[in-house]
This record gives sequence, structure tokens and C-alpha cells, in this order.
Amino acid sequence: MTRRQLKLGAVLTPTGGPGHPYTWLDPEIDGDASVDIDWYIRYARLAEQAKFDLVFIVDSQFITPDSPPHYLNRLEPLTLLSALAVATEHIGLVGTLTTSFNQPFNLARRFASLDLISRGRAGWNVVTSGDSGTAGNYGLEEHYDYATRYGRALEHVEVVKALWDSYEDDAFPRDREARRFLDADKLHTLDHRGEHFSVVGPLNIERSRQGQPVIFQAGDSDQGRDLGARIADGIFTHAPTFEAGAAFYADIKSRAAAQGRDPEDIVILPGVTVTVGDTDADAREIERATQLADNDFGKSLRELGRPFGWHDFRQYDLDAPFPTEALKDAERSFYTQAKKIADLAADRGLTLRQTVEALSAPKTSPFTGSAETVANELQRWLDGRALDGINIHIGHPAQFRRFVDEVLPILRERGVVREDYEQNTLRGNLGLPFAENRYTRARREGTDPTPLPGTTASLSASV
Ligand SMILES: Cc1cc2nc3c(=O)[nH]c(=O)nc-3n(C[C@H](O)[C@H](O)[C@H](O)COP(=O)(O)O)c2cc1C
Repeated sequence: MTRRQLKLGAVLTPTGGPGHPYTWLDPEIDGDASVDIDWYIRYARLAEQAKFDLVFIVDSQFITPDSPPHYLNRLEPLTLLSALAVATEHIGLVGTLTTSFNQPFNLARRFASLDLISRGRAGWNVVTSGDSGTAGNYGLEEHYDYATRYGRALEHVEVVKALWDSYEDDAFPRDREARRFLDADKLHTLDHRGEHFSVVGPLNIERSRQGQPVIFQAGDSDQGRDLGARIADGIFTHAPTFEAGAAFYADIKSRAAAQGRDPEDIVILPGVTVTVGDTDADAREIERATQLADNDFGKSLRELGRPFGWHDFRQYDLDAPFPTEALKDAERSFYTQAKKIADLAADRGLTLRQTVEALSAPKTSPFTGSAETVANELQRWLDGRALDGINIHIGHPAQFRRFVDEVLPILRERGVVREDYEQNTLRGNLGLPFAENRYTRARREGTDPTPLPGTTASLSASV
């Protein structure tokens, strides 16, 4: 039997994401790299040469002057991925789009286009938008509360998936002799009237060879995990330790099983930072120097506000206990992350200053060491079911190259990562089944298509 292999994703935030205010000072990173398509093409191709499964584009639509450099000035994900689609051949292209500030029809259409442009390599990372200020860019006074956010998200994704199935795979005979372009029996309207969305359909674009784009999801609350377990093919998460990773992994897989799904049909990819040195001690030194170069108390204090809806922590006495009242502003933002920070401060009795220091102090990542050590640790996490793959943050380019040139050959030798692409779709390379069309399945099974969640009235019928 072939060995379960580590999936590989690369997160592209060239000038530096949260916690990395000075990554862009690296001479290898041009100051405009986050808006330079050539930078993305270069690293997508490097990841493709190393047989990565996918590149991953995170996103947000609300900034303040204190946002990290990459967030201040960056390309819109689907426009960027469309350009990468024609500059690469095999690698998957995953973009983050929010269900809170997009309509399902428009989103379905754009992702279906990317899926055809890339010939079956598109993926959608479903988020509900952690940055509460985004609401102000979409005509709303405030962001939705959690129940509404996740209610919308579930209905949104199900509507998108149903729209993607508007055409069955053999809907276009394109028979010149018979002058028959379309088999109208294979075109399905939606007529969805739901709690959050009303969409008539059908979508005016056919499916790709992977059936539907791969669905990722990122969100850590109970509601977020339930959503992921129900609708996602992949989960993007954080895993600070093996134990935390294994607990999250078991939790998601058991929630998926409780939904009647095969837990193997959902892959879990935590975001990780890898630091490779000539020896373990050398790697720890590189990691420490890198983190110290990025460390800036003033910036960390201001950026602490982000999970708390950009609450301004500069208003407090730094040496007074951590101000838990800030949690109020997190309720429509990144509440799960904010609550973890407030709990850490409460449990350890930290002041605001100590909390900032605890969060920004140099830490050793589990994936810091010689190439051999990093390879061993990745294999341990894979075999110990703490992950199915990693989403590696390309921070300093030299480190990414060391991972590719030094760690991957060891893993390849052991059969832990692939030698070459086995399939010609993202779904296939991730070991996920083809997404069968819901109407084709219903016909095959002699049933009606499953009603969509949130439906208040539905007239599912052929056009
Ligand atoms: C690993 C991870 C990555 C995320 N990436 C994004 C992102 O790129 N854009 C975004 O708007 N929200 C992102 N989110 C935020 C979620 O969409 C969600 O709004 C937020 O985490 C609050 O929900 P939760 O309490 O369920 O985690 C991310 C969340 C997690 C856990």
C-alpha cells in the first residue's frame, strides 16, 4: 500500500503579514513585491517545480496605517490567481473570499472562471471576514454577529455549489451536424429563496474537469469548525504544538464523521513557519535573529488591536492588568483569537505590556532545525495525525529555498512527499474525489437533489 503523503501549500504574503513588520527589509524582497505579479509568478513556479499542491492567497478588505506591509498594498486574490493560472501548469490556486461581503452568484461565476482558466486547479478559502471594519466598505454600520456570519456562510457556500452544478458535465453536445449546441435537459435553474440569499440561476458557465473548485475553510470557533466539517474539502488552521494540532485534527475529523462524511475527504493544513540551519543550534540562531529583526513593541501593541476589531490599546497604562473590556470590540471580529489572548493574560496575571511581550517574544517553532530534524518532525506530525499537510509561509526567500532544496529531498527519499504530480486537477492531487454534479447524482440515484440549507422556498426544476 502506498504511504499517506504530506500535502504542500505555500502562503504568499511577500512583504510580510501579521507579526512581520520588517520582513520587507530583506534585500531579496522588493518593496513592491506584494503588487508585483512577477514576484508571485516566480514563487508559484518555484513551488510547482518542488511539486507543491497549491499556492494559498489570504485576504482582507479593511486596513489601518498599522496593518502589516503586505496588507497595506496587495493584489485582489482572483485577479492575481487568474494571472498565475496561465503562468503555471500543475499547481493548485486557492484564493480567500468572504461570504460576508460577496453575493453567491458573482462569487460562483468568478471561481468557475478561474477553474476553467486553470483547467481544474481552483480552490476557494471560505472566510467570514475577521476584520469587522470591512462592513463599512459595504454599506453596513457594523459587521454581522457570529450567528448571522456563519448562517450566511453555510447558505452562501451551498448556493455557490449548487450554482456550479447548473450544467451537467454532458450538457453541451456541440454537435455541428445536428446543429445542437446545448442539451437543455442538462441545464438546471436554482430558484433559491433563502434566509440570507435569493438566487434564481442558472449560472452561465460549465464545470471544469475537477467538477467544482476545492473548498477550504478557515475559522476556529465552534461555529467555524462545524461549518468546515460540513462543507470543506480542506481546513486552513494554526497548530502551535503537536498536541494542539492532533486535538484540532481529531475534532474536525469527528465533526465530519458526525455529518455522515468520510473523514478522509477533508484535509487539514495548518499554516507553519519553517527555519532550516546547518545544525539544530544554527537553525535556532537564525530563527531568533529573524524574529528579533521583526520585533517592535510599538508595532506589536498597535497590531494587538486587530483581533479585537482594531481596538486601540495605546489608551491604557501598559503596567496595569490586561484590559479585558477590549473583548467587547472583538465580538464581531476575530473573537476566538482575541479570547485566547485575554485568557492567556488572565491565567498568567499579565499586564498589557507583559501580554504584548509574551505574544511577540522570540519563540521556537516545532519546524526549526537541521533539514533532517525538520523532515523528522513533519513526518511525526503527519504519521501522528496532527495534520495532512502544511501551508508554509514563504517569509524570507532564502529559507523557502532551503526547505525546497534540503528538507524536501529527504522527505521525497522517504516517500513522504510526491515525486511528481499524479493527477491533472487540484482535487485529484489532494486525493479528494471528483465532485459529482448534484443533478446527475440525483438522476443516478432516482432521488431529488438535496434541498439547500436555509431554504424558505425552492422550485428546483429544469429550464
Ligand atoms: C487560520 C485562519 C486563517 C484565516 N484567514 C483569513 C483571511 O485570510 N481573511 C479573512 O477575512 N479572515 C480570515 N480568517 C478569519 C475567519 O474568517 C473568521 O472571521 C475569524 O477567524 C473569526 O471566526 P472564528 O472565531 O470562527 O475563528 C482566518 C481564520 C483562521 C483561523
